[in-house]
Amino acid sequence: MRQNEDLVLIGPKVILVPYKPEHVPQYHQWMKSPFLQEMTASEPLTLQEEYDMQQSWHLDDNKCTFIILAIAPPGTAAGDLEGISSKKAVMIGDVNLFFNDPDNDKSFAEIEIMIAEEKFRRSGYGIEAIKIMMAYAMTQLDVKTFEAKISLKNQPSTDMFKLRLGFRERSVSTIFEEVTLDWMTKSATLTEVVDDNSLPTPEEKQKMSTFEEQLLSYWQNQVQSTSWNIVKCRISL
Ligand SMILES: CC(C)(COP(=O)(O)OP(=O)(O)OC[C@H]1O[C@@H](n2cnc3c(N)ncnc32)[C@H](O)[C@@H]1OP(=O)(O)O)[C@@H](O)C(=O)NCCC(=O)NCCS
Repeated sequence: MRQNEDLVLIGPKVILVPYKPEHVPQYHQWMKSPFLQEMTASEPLTLQEEYDMQQSWHLDDNKCTFIILAIAPPGTAAGDLEGISSKKAVMIGDVNLFFNDPDNDKSFAEIEIMIAEEKFRRSGYGIEAIKIMMAYAMTQLDVKTFEAKISLKNQPSTDMFKLRLGFRERSVSTIFEEVTLDWMTKSATLTEVVDDNSLPTPEEKQKMSTFEEQLLSYWQNQVQSTSWNIVKCRISL
């Protein structure tokens, strides 16, 4: 979508920047990895197809993506807006939303994350990037329900969504070998509810509500925003 084409979101450890053509060669390189293809259920693309995909992410109103940059290497002090420099920022992954509700309900989005650079995994970058994306989606795009589809082989990602973000398990597909998790704000309307079993339990609701408050406070107190045009020369890769 074009809504975030000039938006940069800065947290304590990561910077989310819009996906631009200059990011495509690195992205294409990452996606040659059979491990990342399997974990993200992706097919390898040619470089030209990856450029076309970047354009689609940019122009399609049903897709929102940011490239994740790490401000500082794992284990070093967190950066801030003033600390951004080409030496410190490293492109490490991406975080995406798909507005793919069959009834075109724009308050529903599927969310995905990838920390492609192995040495940056398990250092808190993934959780921070997804929290910023969720908070952005809730406050700026009016998303109220998030869904994540994760390969049954991907325990790290399942753990992150369930244990750290309070997502609940909605269903398991043995055919697609994936689990579907979801999370909703207090004001979400459950358009997909077909029976009482698909409603969150009181415990799940409480967990989601607590996390929602934490997320909104995080967004207000720890996330800064700026314009891509202002910072792009300082964070060119
Ligand atoms: C899954 C992924 C996004 C997690 O990001 P990350 O930056 O490595 O994870 P973080 O350091 O932010 O950890 C956040 C939580 O994720 C879970 N987690 C991350 N790596 C884990 C691992 N190797 N084993 C178990 N849990 C793990 C934990 O719950 C962790 O919280 P904790 O540190 O309190 O235990 C990242 O490893 C990744 O992109 N992997 C490859 C691609 C992929 O699987 N994408 C997801 C497709 S849906």
